[in-house]
Amino acid sequence: MTKYNRIVRTTDFTDEFAPQIALLKKYGYGDLNYDALWKWAGIMQVVKDFKLEASKSCIDIGGGCSPLHILFSAHTKVYNNDINFNNWFPIDVETKCILPPGEPMPRKQENIVYVGANFYDFIKTLEEGTVDFCYDGCSVIHFNEGRHTHSHNDAANEVAAAVKRMLRPGGMYISCCDVLHPSYKPLHEPWQSYGTEFNFAENIFDDILKTGLVPVDEPDYVMEPFFDDLTHSCLTIAPGDHRQWTPPFSKRNHLPEYHAFAQEHTDFTREVFTSARFVFKKV
Ligand SMILES: C[S@@+](CC[C@H](N)C(=O)[O-])C[C@H]1O[C@@H](n2cnc3c(N)ncnc32)[C@H](O)[C@@H]1O
Repeated sequence: MTKYNRIVRTTDFTDEFAPQIALLKKYGYGDLNYDALWKWAGIMQVVKDFKLEASKSCIDIGGGCSPLHILFSAHTKVYNNDINFNNWFPIDVETKCILPPGEPMPRKQENIVYVGANFYDFIKTLEEGTVDFCYDGCSVIHFNEGRHTHSHNDAANEVAAAVKRMLRPGGMYISCCDVLHPSYKPLHEPWQSYGTEFNFAENIFDDILKTGLVPVDEPDYVMEPFFDDLTHSCLTIAPGDHRQWTPPFSKRNHLPEYHAFAQEHTDFTREVFTSARFVFKKV
């Protein structure tokens, strides 16, 4: 069974990612949405499994104020590059940790380099072939917003190509991000209706593959039946007129309420996005 290149699974929170989720909860991140916890835990698991704690340097691509750059700084120099550090959940400005605080995270402040710049400019300032690993916590899908000559496909491909140049041989690229739900396929081509943000997992995988980076295992993007009507997503779409709609509460955090609501509003049953992880190596 594919371990790394895959879509979210129902057992992740209680099984595969359980140790990482427990840590994130201990550090105060437990009340954030499942999507964020899943992607951070998914990256942490790869860092542990591939013994990347022994790395000298890494890049947090569009890292913002996620806990990952702080956690990894305990053992590795982290370039946290973001075009701006406006965060999507409340943080302590000094420590960049979530508020209210959990237990203090292990960190080594001198290992953290904040680089407020566009990724495409930042990446030119580093020496090629020197970085041990790069990771993307759902940032790359947002990179090309507003660039009319580009699709998000280009972002996945362009960023992975730049990452490949930066990595040392044997270095790794890990990306955990939102992707279009597979059940969305019969309705649309990517990009058509939900802005231009999302793509199908296999398209992103192919865009990374095209750069010559090598996947650590065969991808498996089959969705468990459970997620057909009960995912951790909060957006749904009406198949009839392609309207987008957000229920009055997050499906992720209020599953029983959401379910009851969905039963009354039978038009709104299609999920728009889910989460996937991509893990590649430079050989
Ligand atoms: C959804 S947030 C994810 C932040 C963080 N990785 C996390 O896990 O919480 C997307 C981030 O990408 C950053 N971003 C968007 N375009 C960028 C670019 N061209 N270069 C660097 N960062 C960018 C945004 O500022 C934002 O912080």
